[in-house]
Amino acid sequence: MTARLSPSEVPAVPPRILLGPGPSTAHPRVLQAMMAPMIGYLDPDFMKILDEVSALLRRVFQTDDSLALAISGTGSAGMEAGINSLLEPGDTVVMCICGFFGGRMADMAERVGANVVTLQSEWGKPFPPDLLEAELSNHERVKLVTIVHAETSTGVLQPLGEVAALAKERDALLMVDAVTSLGGGRVGVDEVGIDYCYSATQKCLACPPGMAPVALGARALDAVRARGQKPTSWYLDLDLIAKYWGPEHVYHHTAPVSNIVGLREALRIVLEEGLDARIERHHRNAMALRAGLEALGLDLVVDARHSLDQITPVWIPDGVDDLEVRQTLLRKYKIEIGRGLGSFAGRVWRIGLMGESSRAENVFAFLSAMEEILPSVGYEVARGAGVAEASKLLAGSA
Ligand SMILES: Cc1ncc(COP(=O)(O)O)c(C=O)c1O
Repeated sequence: MTARLSPSEVPAVPPRILLGPGPSTAHPRVLQAMMAPMIGYLDPDFMKILDEVSALLRRVFQTDDSLALAISGTGSAGMEAGINSLLEPGDTVVMCICGFFGGRMADMAERVGANVVTLQSEWGKPFPPDLLEAELSNHERVKLVTIVHAETSTGVLQPLGEVAALAKERDALLMVDAVTSLGGGRVGVDEVGIDYCYSATQKCLACPPGMAPVALGARALDAVRARGQKPTSWYLDLDLIAKYWGPEHVYHHTAPVSNIVGLREALRIVLEEGLDARIERHHRNAMALRAGLEALGLDLVVDARHSLDQITPVWIPDGVDDLEVRQTLLRKYKIEIGRGLGSFAGRVWRIGLMGESSRAENVFAFLSAMEEILPSVGYEVARGAGVAEASKLLAGSA
């Protein structure tokens, strides 16, 4: 007989208000959809679901020209599929880096043996396109330019227009990380001219983690198919993955059926709300959060012109213990926020408002908790000021 654990020994998943860098709150309709009966990943009815996901993804990526699909794995799988498939050993890639995730891309590109040129700029500010312009003129041929649209580590929204124009001028492919912006911010794949754009399901799409939606443009797909040698990763070969998602539906690996069904529901929810309305909701709640934090005397890391609506980093005041505040938020108020990454470790808190987590009630819950916690760790605040300021900004909105 097999021993069964009694219910008291089985750890429960406690409820949380997820205001970190992800995962964000999963929409209940998505979780429900994921409980649908199992179906084969080549079943003709599942193929219809796959096609619907692809069509819905195209609308959310704002592209008519790209093939949209979802890679099995988290956002990093989307990143690695692009790097592995688009770059061959010796190809030159110019990587624009002003945060933690730009650095991860460079690590991947080194592993494939590319000629990796990293351009580093100051954290907390957008990447300056003139740095790219100067570097591009040093190379006869650049295969790929990479950049992060929404740097979760710094809270900066990167304008893409000039970077895209520079890549195009040099006939280089453009790869963009939209892990934190897709479904909560404007990505505009066709308008910007992005050749390969990847994201993740656990942020503004309000799904559990596990899939990396991508938009693969014709030029990128041509480049993958024209390779002299196969990519080192079979699993993340974009050509093979595209053949499963494309009209031929060729078997590649066992697709994570429930995650794909959940993603379909999530994309339907995004489009029911409307992309514009959803982007506006993220903006409104982020404005309220920022106003509330400033009313508490806290300093924001990013200036208003470049701040990302999905995540707001704030400097930790001198003398305040980072961990004590985050642990009190979690234990007493069930609120998760993010810690600083890389050079921001121990210096900033990052408050995420993504997807279903971007709600006015979460802004109020977080600010009122901070009004309680901060004085208890020696940082006096005008109690009620944060909530009042946020409330003024949200007055009249749904
Ligand atoms: C901008 C950005 N890129 C890439 C990643 C990696 O995604 P994942 O953790 O889903 O693999 C993250 C994760 O937070 C991210 O914020």
